[in-house]
Amino acid sequence: FHVEWDLVQAEKGGYDSFMLKEIHEQPQAVRETMGARIDLEQKRVILPELKMSDAELAKYDRIYIVACGTSMHAGLVGKDVIEKWTRVPVEVAVASEFRYRDPIYTDNTLMIVISQSGETADTLAALREAKKTNVKVMAITNVVGSSVAREADEVLFTWAGPEVAVASTKAYTSQVVTLYLFSLYLAQVKGTLKAAEVAEVVDHLQDIPAKITSLLEDAEQVRHFAESTKGVNSLFFIGRSLDYAVSLEGSLKLKEISYIHSEAYPAGELKHGTLALIEDNVPVVALATQPDIYEKMVSNIVEVKARGARVLGFAMEGNTDLAKSVDEVIYLPTTLPMLAPILTVIPLQLLSYFASVARGLDVDKPRNLAKSVTVE
Ligand code: AGP
Repeated sequence: FHVEWDLVQAEKGGYDSFMLKEIHEQPQAVRETMGARIDLEQKRVILPELKMSDAELAKYDRIYIVACGTSMHAGLVGKDVIEKWTRVPVEVAVASEFRYRDPIYTDNTLMIVISQSGETADTLAALREAKKTNVKVMAITNVVGSSVAREADEVLFTWAGPEVAVASTKAYTSQVVTLYLFSLYLAQVKGTLKAAEVAEVVDHLQDIPAKITSLLEDAEQVRHFAESTKGVNSLFFIGRSLDYAVSLEGSLKLKEISYIHSEAYPAGELKHGTLALIEDNVPVVALATQPDIYEKMVSNIVEVKARGARVLGFAMEGNTDLAKSVDEVIYLPTTLPMLAPILTVIPLQLLSYFASVARGLDVDKPRNLAKSVTVE
C-alpha cells in the first residue's frame, strides 16, 4: 500500500493533485502541440501528417465538429476561428445527439471529431456512422493508437501528454491550439488570409506558452473569489462570442469538481429569462475580452450588478474601464482577440480548482464521473 501511495505522490510531481499538475503543464503541452507544425522562417503552418492533398483540403466548404464535454467546448472555439479565417461554415454537435441524427453530408463536407482519450463511446459511434457514408473524418486526439486515431481518415495529435485528472485541462488547451493551427492551414490553402495575416497570428501563438506561465504565476488572484464561493448554491458565467464558448468550459469545470450549480449564458440572452435568478450576492463571472462586443458586454454586466450580483470580470491587460463596473478583475496578457480563449480558460480552471479545494473535495476524482466514458 505504501509503495503505491508513494508512486502516486511521485507521479503528481510535487503537486497536491493531478489536475493542478496538469494545469501547470499547459505551457509545455501547448508548445509541444505547436512544435514542428510552425515554419518559423516562413511564419506559416505546416501539417506534414495530413495524408490528403492541399487541393482536396481546399475543396471542403462545410465542416461538422463532433465531440463531448470539454472537447466539444474546444470545438466551439474552433468553429468561430475556422469561420472567421476561412469563411467555411461550421456546425458543432454533441456526439450523443449527432450519432442519432441524419446529418446532411455533401461531397465537400469534412467531419472533425475531437476526443482527448480517443475512446469516448458516443464520439466513436458518431465517427463510425459517418464512415458508413463517404464523408472524410479527421480526428483530433491525444492518444496515439486509440480507436478514434485508428479509425479516422486523418489524425492531428495533440501532444499534451497523459491526462489523469477527470477534469480535462491541458487536453482542452492543446485541442484549441490544434484547431488554431488547422484553421490557419486551411486559410493558407484556401487563400482566405494573406501571408502577413498568418504571420501575425503565428507570432502571437508563439507567445502563448509564456503568457500561460504568467497567468499560472498569478494564480492567487483567482483564489479569493473561488474561496468566497464556498457557501454559494449557484454561479453564473456570462460572455459573448468566443467568451461565451469559454464560459461553457468554465461552467462545466466548476460543476464537475466543486459541485456548485452553475450555468453559462450568452450575455445577451440574460434578459430572456435567466436575469430572474440574479439577486443579491449571486456570483457572476463575466468575460469581456472581445473588443468588438465589449460595450454590449459592459451593458450586460451593469444589468446584473443592478440586481445585486457580485461580479468577477475578465479583461485584457490595459483595460482600465471594466474595473468601474465589476467587483474584481482578472487581467489577461494581451493577445489577438481570436486567441484570447486559450488564456481566459486558465484562471477559469484555477477558479474551479480552488473552489473544489475550499470545499474539501477530491479534485481528481469527482463523484459519479469517469475519465473516459467508454459506454453510452
Ligand atoms: C472534462 O472535464 C470532462 N471530464 C469530459 O467532459 C470530457 O471532456 C468528455 O468526456 C470527452 O472526453 P474525450 O475528450 O476523451 O472524448
